Amino acid sequence: MESSNILRLGGVRDVGQFQEHLAALRLAIPCDHDLVRGAESPLAQPIVRQGIRIGNRFAVQPMEGWDGTSEGNPSEHTLRRWQRFGRSGAKLIWGGEAVAVCHEGRANPNQLLAASHTRAGLARLRAALTNEHRQAAGSDDGLLIGLQLTHSGRYSCPNQKGRPEPRILYHHPILDRRLNLPPDYPVLTDGEIEGIIEEFHRAALMASELGFDFVDIKHCHGYLGHEFLSAHTREGKYGGSFENRTRFLREVVQGIRAAAPGLQIGVRLSAFDAIPYRPDPALSKPGKPGPGIPAEYQNLVPYRWGFGVDQSDPRRADFAEPLRFLSLLEELGIQLVNLTAGSPYYCPHIQRPALYPPSDGYLPPEDPLIGVARQLEAVQQLKQRFPKLIIVGTAYSYLQDFLPNVAQAAVRLGWVDSIGLGRMVLSYPEMLSDVVEGRAFQHKLVCRTFSDCTTAPRNGLPSGCYPLDSYYKKSVSAELLKVAKARR
Ligand SMILES: Cc1cc2nc3c(=O)[nH]c(=O)nc-3n(C[C@H](O)[C@H](O)[C@H](O)COP(=O)(O)O)c2cc1C
Ligand code: SF4
Repeated sequence: MESSNILRLGGVRDVGQFQEHLAALRLAIPCDHDLVRGAESPLAQPIVRQGIRIGNRFAVQPMEGWDGTSEGNPSEHTLRRWQRFGRSGAKLIWGGEAVAVCHEGRANPNQLLAASHTRAGLARLRAALTNEHRQAAGSDDGLLIGLQLTHSGRYSCPNQKGRPEPRILYHHPILDRRLNLPPDYPVLTDGEIEGIIEEFHRAALMASELGFDFVDIKHCHGYLGHEFLSAHTREGKYGGSFENRTRFLREVVQGIRAAAPGLQIGVRLSAFDAIPYRPDPALSKPGKPGPGIPAEYQNLVPYRWGFGVDQSDPRRADFAEPLRFLSLLEELGIQLVNLTAGSPYYCPHIQRPALYPPSDGYLPPEDPLIGVARQLEAVQQLKQRFPKLIIVGTAYSYLQDFLPNVAQAAVRLGWVDSIGLGRMVLSYPEMLSDVVEGRAFQHKLVCRTFSDCTTAPRNGLPSGCYPLDSYYKKSVSAELLKVAKARR
């Protein structure tokens, strides 16, 4: 689909016109016409469950940085990002950003690391966020801060930009080819996996000692935790049956409970996935990728390389195993769940609906509102089945000026417990607190899904909103360009 055929939400006059547009697309995205301000707002209501209190209904999603030091410590740019997370007014900080549990598992050579030499740096991030939050919101009452722990698995790239060092659990017929992995490329052994599990235990203990309220055991976006769930073809105790594919989660949780009994655990899950997409070769030109189409899959049915994917038609979701997975989380006493979808590496339009693709993506194959609706509806269905879980939903940023109307409706109707904000926090951190507190709405800061925050890091620049955040435009862009050049 040409981006020019998609209605630009930035040009939509008012919420009435937006609702008409949703109706024309036959999308069941809930959307309140009027916004409630102050203490009565559905978005201002606390969440209270066993041992957990979260002061309101919006959350900051984790957003990986490419701007730490090569040792894995935060830089001043990282610190500023976390301060802005605190200033957002959100009472749930889901992870801050992906923090690798060991050097080999870093997704980029500047990703944060949880290690003894980064202890003080991580403590500084938490403290800066909390201080900023206190100043903006008046108190840190009801503020719950997590740290997202990860191993990047297939997408590990710890040492040099552009030099991937994948750690895979099984051979994938499409993704192996994309990463140029030969058929004899080694898979992680059970012994190596046990070592990684211990790194999770160690990192979680450290997070607990630093005062983080919970750790997220990342199970999304194609990274290691997520790859376990689709390891149907792997032999041994971490592959094959559902029980084996979830052994990693159970062993990580068991060790964390033993090492840090007071620490809450959360899981961010890609609740459904899709066959990898690629730009349509027939409609692509050099430097100009065409619209996304699914990879050839006809010879790969039944499709045994996905989680939450219909094996008979891998273009479609299947919630049978994700439902089992959420039951398992309940059994393990995990109450905090963050639902996302797909992967930025092979189906970015599913994971992060956008008008403009990142540099390594493809033109949107559908109106991105369809992608938003897909994630909202999945969360609604799963929430209905698991009312006791605290569920954070994802993919709201594409809604732009109408995000608050949809967020309020989704919480009011019980579709979701907390609205997770990703890209919007990079451009306009205070969006939802401005609405709830009745302050002026800053249209000029609304994220327009230009994807620069993804493209820039792919080119060695820090994560941030280049088009709309003046920090990048005025003060540091020259310096950042210099840094990026030196890194290349
Ligand atoms: C620059 C950038 C970095 C991201 N890094 C992470 C990450 O570290 N961990 C994670 O779980 N998701 C990460 N995501 C995905 C977001 O958390 C979120 O799921 C996605 O952007 C869709 O939400 P949105 O529509 O509000 O942006 C990242 C997204 C962006 C744009
Ligand atoms: S660069 Fe800014 S406007 Fe573009 S997607 Fe990222 S946050 Fe949104």
